[in-house]
Amino acid sequence: MDRLIIEGGKRLQGEIGISGSKNALLPILAATLLTDEPCRISGVPCLRDTSTMIRILRSLGKNVNFKNDEITVKSSGHVNTTAEYKLVSTMRASFCVLGPLLAKFKKARVSLPGGCVIGLRPVDLHLKGLRALGACLDIDKGYVVARADRLSGAHIYLGGAFGSSVLATANVMMAATKAYGITKIESAACEPEIVDLAKFLNKMGARIKGFGTPLIEIEGVRRLQGVEYRIIPDRIEAGTFIIAALITGGDVKLVNVIWQHMGAVLDKLEDIGADIEKADKTIEVKSSRPLRATNITTLPYPGFPTDMQAQMMALMSLVPGVSIITEKVYPDRFMHIAELNRMGAHIQRQGPHAIIEGVGQLCGAKVMASDLRASACLILAGLVAKGITSVSRIYHLERGYENLDEKLNSLGARICREKE
Ligand code: UD1
Repeated sequence: MDRLIIEGGKRLQGEIGISGSKNALLPILAATLLTDEPCRISGVPCLRDTSTMIRILRSLGKNVNFKNDEITVKSSGHVNTTAEYKLVSTMRASFCVLGPLLAKFKKARVSLPGGCVIGLRPVDLHLKGLRALGACLDIDKGYVVARADRLSGAHIYLGGAFGSSVLATANVMMAATKAYGITKIESAACEPEIVDLAKFLNKMGARIKGFGTPLIEIEGVRRLQGVEYRIIPDRIEAGTFIIAALITGGDVKLVNVIWQHMGAVLDKLEDIGADIEKADKTIEVKSSRPLRATNITTLPYPGFPTDMQAQMMALMSLVPGVSIITEKVYPDRFMHIAELNRMGAHIQRQGPHAIIEGVGQLCGAKVMASDLRASACLILAGLVAKGITSVSRIYHLERGYENLDEKLNSLGARICREKE
């Protein structure tokens, strides 16, 4: 296992290319199960989650080739409809093979993903949506065993206690592409990654309307075909680099970015005083003035993304005044507070709120990453902390950031890897 050693205090400067979106890629890879024809997907980030999804597709009978930034998926002729615990338990997104398997092969056996460090993360909405389409679902020895001789279009309300669900929307939308008749998903997730999936499916021959809004309408078709598709850039990686620039007082230009996907984050950063210039596929961040304390509430898209909450907390821990972050998507996603406090931050948790008193300086310390975005938060804190920060358990980071340490170093950071 590797850890990152960060020498703080280096100002970031320069230009950085943003990788393809992990959260767009994973359901799109699952969607390739809907056809026997070859699919070619480009703009693919090289991540541990990408490898996990490739292993799952292979286990389900696909031939998958990943070279440079391109994945080709072809049928091997052999079909397996069981997604095993050892793979699904390592990555929740793999649960969204359930909808495509059911739609294509009329049956599936997919391991339940289990809990994770950021909270309970149930899958009741996935199951509710698939049942509404006529699937017969049982839980047996930790697996969802699903059958559906015929899926039929239905009107499904898919909102839960914490709002819409991204992957439940993806799962049900994929299953409905081949259902008889019309499906309407109400309270659907509006995330850009859902829009990307819908565009991919429509290119395959699906008939989906309303994606990007809370009401998605899907007219089932008999057959889907192979396609070529390019994944959208990763808005969370882009947001992380913007904060890396601001936290180090640097000036950074991001290329290959769709700023229109980042409204809530950019608006909040501009509101607290950040100097951000948006152009066609680029964002330039300049640290020309001091930042102000603020309040942030995470919400489903187009609200402030929970996947940027931890990184934003690292930034606010250094901004004078009191900031409050309220987590409304995963109310327990606060494992990074204790680690930031070990670096000298003043943050208190009260239920779903984090109360952050900005401090003048963070100090390097040994800290431990608990999940993907918490890892990014600790690295950001390390970039500006006095002295050396050592971030262990960075395998979380490798799940979702493509060479984050190397990319930061190319902007002037000093990060090296060490074996733990
Ligand atoms: C996706 C993202 C993840 C992001 C999250 C929220 C991928 C691969 N992952 O995860 O990075 O943090 O959206 O933006 O795209 N819920 C239920 N029942 C369900 C499903 C979800 O109650 O059946 C709850 C969750 O516990 C959570 C909320 O709904 O409180 C939103 O979760 P959801 O949108 O489903 O997250 P994921 O799609 O798993």
